[in-house]
This record gives sequence, C-alpha cells and structure tokens, in this order.
Amino acid sequence: MSSRANWGSKLGFILATSGSAVGLGAIWKFPYVAGKNGGGVFLLVYLACVLTIGISMVLAEMSIGHMAKKSATTAYRNLKGGLWPWAGRLSVLCIFVLLSFYCVVGGWSFAYLWLSLTGEVMTQDTKALSDLFNGFIASPTQSIFYTGLFLVATVGIVMGGVQKGIERTSKILMPALFILMLGIIARVLTLPNAMDGVMYFITPDFSKINAEMMIEAVGLAMFSLSVGCGILIAYGSYVDEKTKLPGATLWISLLATLACVMAGLMVLPAVFAFGIDPSAGPGLTFITMPAIFSQMPFGQFFAVMFFLLLIFAAITSSVSLLEPIVAFLIDEFNIQRQKATLMTCIAVFTLSIPAALSFGVLADFHIFGKNPFDLMDYAASNVMMPAGGLLAALFAGWAIWPRVQASLIAQDAARILPAFRAICAVVAPIVICVIWAHNL
Ligand code: PFF
Repeated sequence: MSSRANWGSKLGFILATSGSAVGLGAIWKFPYVAGKNGGGVFLLVYLACVLTIGISMVLAEMSIGHMAKKSATTAYRNLKGGLWPWAGRLSVLCIFVLLSFYCVVGGWSFAYLWLSLTGEVMTQDTKALSDLFNGFIASPTQSIFYTGLFLVATVGIVMGGVQKGIERTSKILMPALFILMLGIIARVLTLPNAMDGVMYFITPDFSKINAEMMIEAVGLAMFSLSVGCGILIAYGSYVDEKTKLPGATLWISLLATLACVMAGLMVLPAVFAFGIDPSAGPGLTFITMPAIFSQMPFGQFFAVMFFLLLIFAAITSSVSLLEPIVAFLIDEFNIQRQKATLMTCIAVFTLSIPAALSFGVLADFHIFGKNPFDLMDYAASNVMMPAGGLLAALFAGWAIWPRVQASLIAQDAARILPAFRAICAVVAPIVICVIWAHNL
C-alpha cells in the first residue's frame, strides 16, 4: 500500500481548500441572492450562518478525514463501520451529480471568455445579450463542446495528483482570483452611483428579514463552503499531523466569505450604477455583467478579466469535486490514480450531456417536472448535500465524539469543544431538517 499523499504545505492546503469553496457559488450566486434578499441584511444573516453552522461543519468533516486518513466512505468504515459507509457512498453520488452540471456552467464561463475576447458580448443591448445567451445554451454542439473543454481542464489538474496538480494550481489561481477581483472592484467603485450599491450591500434593513431568506442563507453558506459532499473529508485526509485544523478551518471559512463579500462589492455597485435589477438571477453574470462592461471605459479588458476569474473560481471547485471520486476509487478498489481519473471523467461527461442539452434539445424532457439540469441541481444541492452534511455532523457530534474530542484537545482547541459539540450534535441537524422540510 503506497503511503498517503500529503499537502506540501499548510498554505497550499488552505488555498486548495478555499479554492474548492470559492466558486460559482460565491461569484455568480451570492451577489444575486444577496441582491434579491435586501442586500445588507442578507449579508449579516449569511455571516452569522458561516460563523456558526458553516465553520463547525467544515471542522467536523475535516476532522473525520484527518483522523481516518481516508476519503469519506473508507473513513466512515474505519472510524465506526456499521451502516456509516453509506454516508460516504451517498457523498460520492452527490458530487458525481454535482460535478456533471457544474461542468456545464463552467463551460459557459469558457464560452464567455471567448466571446469577450472576440468582443461579441460588448454591447449595451440586454435583449441582444439575452438572445445570445439563450441561443448559446440551446446549441447542442456548443454546450457539449464547452462542457467537455471544462472537464478536460479539470481532469488535467487532478491527473497531476494532490501536491503537483491541485495544490500547485490553487497556489497560483487563488491569489490571482483575489487580485482580479480587487482590480474589478476598484474600477466598479469609481462608477457614478456605485456608492448606492455599496450602501445597499452593507446597510442592513431589518424589515427584510424572513424565514425564507434565512433558509436560503444557510443553504448558500453550506454550498459555498463545500460542506456536505465528503470533499472536506478527502482534503482533511491529506493534512499532516503538524497542521492544526481549527486554525485552518478559520482561514478557509474567512477566505471563502471574503470572496462572497468581494463578489458582492464587484457586482452590486455596478448593477446600481447602471440602474439594473439586482435580482436578475443567472442572467446577472452572463447577460447583465457584459452589458455593464460594455458601458465602461476599457470594458472589454474588464470583461475578459471577469470571465477569466469565473473560470479560475469554477475550476478550483470542480477539481475538488473530481478528487473525492478519484480518491474513493483509489481507496476502495485500489485503482491507480490516472486510471481512476479517466474512468470518472468518462462517467461524468456522459452524465453531463443531458445537463448540457437541457436548454435546447431536451428542454421539454421533464422528470418530476424538471429538465435534466434542474433535476440534477435539485437532487444534489437540495437533497443529497444537506443529507451529507447532516450525517457528517451527527457522526462527529455523536458516533465518534470521544475521538473527535481527544483529537481537538491534542490540537490545543479544548476551548471550542462545548460550542462545537452543541452545533454538530443539535443545532446543525435541526437546521438541516428544517431546510429539508422546506425544500421538499
Ligand atoms: N463551493 C463551490 C461553489 O461555491 O461554487 C461549489 C461546490 C464545490 C459545492 C464542492 C459543493 C462542493 F462539494
């Protein structure tokens, strides 16, 4: 048995893990969900969710991987056995589905990088941009081509393995991402009326608080911290003995949340400056942002930068989605890394084809009233991820609590034990059940 790969450094581990967290969730979803839910007050609720449930679940999942030194399924089996390995298998299924539709949106980002380079999206006419977007996602050849392109890029990185592939890429892409965002924010903040957007984003209007938005905040916090899919279990398993998980958890959650806040500062002021509806949904990225760029000096440059950073963010997340499936095949079936990656890639591409065709050829093909893309999104984000998070929290908070406790004490984190246990064992399960009941 070969010895387990480790992260080359603590910094590499933190950047790779926050690379998983920062993705389409932060850059595409967060600004429009915050825009829709009253701006500042959503930001406040979101921060509260991250600081309580989010951060605890990140620590719970990483501790499971760290103690077992295995990816989810094997970790659950080695630490406890019984029916627990099914929690790991569920998470493999979840990320398999998640990755299949994530590649489709990742493909759109590639396509829009190309369209920004050629200047095709540089128009202020939102009707033309909307037609362009809808035409593009409906085209079977284009959708499948760009989905495949995104997957090939992801596979190329994972083939390189933990240190050479994932860690090295994240060390370059993550700082690049933050620098690009800073550049765009600096430009956006100097637009007329941009400050209205900033005020909207940072001033809480408590009259806008409601149950629906709180549920949305918890769900988005889980999605954007990559909780509930066994990813943090796999990443935690590569952490060496010297690294203290509580500190790393804090950093990862901080970077992930900083990315959300920066994305909000990048998008919302621009939206206000041009008098666009902040709750335009998916179109905010692919229709509204190009319209905004085309009205800015050096707009094409900023458009290229923007879609480049969207690709960076999406790819560091998709890499994290591919890795646990590969780790599962290696750990459970002793398959060699390259072969496991290739097998996973073929399976993911096959499943991503119906997702890619969901806005054209298969638009009218509905299962449970949803097209394949929406069905996959719903099954992964609303059913399987909360289930995975719930099981991980129960596992750490009850099933193996004495070991978790001992491990955290050994990492000088005895102070956080009462709060951490309360959240894992009681608060998080209750909150997830509430979200579930709401979604189902
Ligand atoms: N956190 C990523 C994002 O916000 O885009 C997406 C994601 C990656 C979700 C990995 C879940 C996951 F396990």
